[in-house]
Amino acid sequence: MKLIFFSYIFMFFPLKISSDFSEDLKTIVSTKDCDWECTFNYSEVTSKTIEYFPKKCEDVCAILTFNSNTDVAESELKKVFRQMHYLIGGLRFENSNITSLSFFTLLKVYDTFNFICDTFGLSIVNNSFLEDIAILQNFEFWVTSHSAYECPFQISNNTKLDTTDVCTHVRVKDWFGNRISGNSKDCVFQNLYDVLFGPLFINLENLHPDFCLTFEELLFFYEQRVIFNNIHAKYCPESKKRINKQKLCEIRNLYSLDDDCNYLFGDLVIDSFEGRYLYKLFNVNILFGSLKIQYTKLEGANFLYNLEYIASLNGNNRRGYNQFSKVQVQVSDSHPAILVRSNKYLKQLKLPNLKHVISRNKDAVVIEDNPVLFSSNMECLMYRITYATNLRVKNEACVVLFY
Ligand SMILES: *[C@@H]1O[C@H](CO)[C@@H](O)[C@H](O)[C@H]1NC(C)=O
Ligand SMILES: *[C@@H]1O[C@H](CO)[C@@H](O)[C@H](O)[C@H]1NC(C)=O
Ligand SMILES: *[C@@H]1O[C@H](CO)[C@@H](O)[C@H](O)[C@H]1NC(C)=O
Ligand SMILES: *[C@@H]1O[C@H](CO)[C@@H](O)[C@H](O)[C@H]1NC(C)=O
Repeated sequence: MKLIFFSYIFMFFPLKISSDFSEDLKTIVSTKDCDWECTFNYSEVTSKTIEYFPKKCEDVCAILTFNSNTDVAESELKKVFRQMHYLIGGLRFENSNITSLSFFTLLKVYDTFNFICDTFGLSIVNNSFLEDIAILQNFEFWVTSHSAYECPFQISNNTKLDTTDVCTHVRVKDWFGNRISGNSKDCVFQNLYDVLFGPLFINLENLHPDFCLTFEELLFFYEQRVIFNNIHAKYCPESKKRINKQKLCEIRNLYSLDDDCNYLFGDLVIDSFEGRYLYKLFNVNILFGSLKIQYTKLEGANFLYNLEYIASLNGNNRRGYNQFSKVQVQVSDSHPAILVRSNKYLKQLKLPNLKHVISRNKDAVVIEDNPVLFSSNMECLMYRITYATNLRVKNEACVVLFY
């Protein structure tokens, strides 16, 4: 079984599915403006209901539930779902005999299946034959802008589903070891699945103000696609020139930067004067710092073609006062990992190799005042820099509703 990381989800929340199917479906249909012709109006998938599945629709609204009544062969599901590339609503596998989720059809160009999951999310519980959920790696989990970025999510009690590969990293056990108690199994992550409704989810807050992370640790979080809900930490002081044989350079300015750096440390600011040095960024894979592109005449961001990962820990810890809970909380002043503003000619902002971003600021990406960047509101809303990562994008220019 391959490793599976649900790096696409912004936040994990317990499922909120109510017992009233038709109310739930109505919620989806009204909030997502579904076409009834493309809505599956049945509370479970069985050989009887599947006949009414909207086979010709590419976008389907449904709470697809596979349970102990599901008596449809997976090969049949594959046929019925052949046209469906977007599922809007919910996906539940509970007490089913399903062995593999590979019956979804991926969109050819991107190799993805799109799941607009913010209403009812994904639940995979008590499937005693389920062994293969690898296709979830190709799922794009979308949330709509007005949904508070929640995607309810749960995977548990699937007795054949092997997730132990996730547990092999020793360092991670250290991380989680004292945060979770009462574990019977030696794999911390298996318990995480149950406890936090999603793996690899770390909360670093209320730590010593000097708490720091090394570049190696940050690289490890990249490998594991760890998602943070808080990351109150700074970079540990380092003087290394190479990590993993890759050249690490500290950014002072682009003029003085070497042109063969693989890893950069510092805030990368590109504004109207930097044009002629941008070639130096072509070999950069990893940025330990934030990226800001502003006031340029650039039309695209090809010079960041090889950028894979941004770990932005900038900001200070300070004590604040939360007026609601009347307790002292730790507040961080931070800026987004990626800020793109006021680029008059910017048409294309794809960072095709970007795979993961750690951002101290809740808005990982802020895009504002780039008048020609999006050709339509839909494009604007669906924009997420790349299809391989899922970031919280604050994009002021988009109108909030879609679908
Ligand atoms: C869905 O099916 C139920 C039961 O057949 C029906 O009462 C309801 O009106 C249907 N909803 C729509 C919008 O077709
Ligand atoms: C699921 O598997 C169990 C055990 O093999 C079997 O008894 C049951 O009939 C199956 N259910 C369906 C809907 O095929
Ligand atoms: C899973 O099974 C357990 C008992 O085996 C049961 O308590 C629980 O309600 C089931 N969960 C779901 C979602 O059906
Ligand atoms: C998992 O199984 C345990 C023990 O059977 C049960 O108490 C728990 O409710 C199950 N979890 C879910 C999400 O159904």
